[in-house]
Amino acid sequence: MVKLSLLTVSLVAPTVFAGPVSGPQTQTETELARRQGYYFQNWSEGGSNIRCNNGGGGTYTANWNSKGGFVCGKGWSYGGNRAIKYTGSYNATGPGYLAVYGWTRNPLIEYYIIEAHADLAPNEPWTSKGNFSTSEGDYEVFTSTRVNKPSIEGTRTFQQYWSVRKEQRVGGTVTTKTHFDEWAKLGMRLGNHDYVIMATEGYTATGGPGSSGSCTINLQ
Ligand SMILES: *[C@@H]1O[C@H](CO)[C@@H](O)[C@H](O)[C@H]1NC(C)=O
Ligand SMILES: *[C@@H]1O[C@H](CO)[C@@H](O)[C@H](O)[C@H]1NC(C)=O
Ligand SMILES: *[C@@H]1O[C@H](CO)[C@@H](O)[C@H](O)[C@H]1NC(C)=O
Repeated sequence: MVKLSLLTVSLVAPTVFAGPVSGPQTQTETELARRQGYYFQNWSEGGSNIRCNNGGGGTYTANWNSKGGFVCGKGWSYGGNRAIKYTGSYNATGPGYLAVYGWTRNPLIEYYIIEAHADLAPNEPWTSKGNFSTSEGDYEVFTSTRVNKPSIEGTRTFQQYWSVRKEQRVGGTVTTKTHFDEWAKLGMRLGNHDYVIMATEGYTATGGPGSSGSCTINLQ
């Protein structure tokens, strides 16, 4: 794909946004979500025309048409081993994913279990580490490295772990332990779990189009 050239561009133009994003949320949003029993994340790098709504119960919706990167979703402030069951709809163009998305610390890892996607174009080069099949589906595993990028610990250099479903779907159950165990077999070590969410992400490949779409996701 085009990943190597994108990395080069992002290195020479570090102020241009390049790649999947994540970041902190405001205390108010966190408290609201906690009262509702879920952890809600609504992060964007400031692009216009991104609407992310915290619905009732386990529901969130997003509508976007933007060059700005964002991660919108709902889940739990503690990740770990969970069977995440959800239903919903997702319709997107441009770079972006619908994924189980989380972080660990020590080591700092950003991970994705991608259920569906528009353009699958991470801006860092990634490496296929293996393939595995479970009763939930067939997946290919990748790793990539983010250098001096936003993280839950501020600007850091860290690894990303990816499981990408070969047959996309919107709705089902994702047993995170299955992925953690498969990653461990490939030498991909996680740290202490931080939050995990069902996330909708959009961003802009450097020099490319932005993303647009809509989704409604309901955690069961
Ligand atoms: C999400 O973030 C945007 C931009 O920061 C803000 O305008 C909007 O009100 C937030 N939505 C929710 C549901 O918190
Ligand atoms: C997805 O969005 C496009 C553009 O808005 C629209 O034309 C199309 O009908 C949508 N598809 C579905 C399945 O909703
Ligand atoms: C995983 O499978 C894909 C084909 O679906 C293949 O291109 C890739 O090389 C495989 N990865 C490894 C590490 O074997």
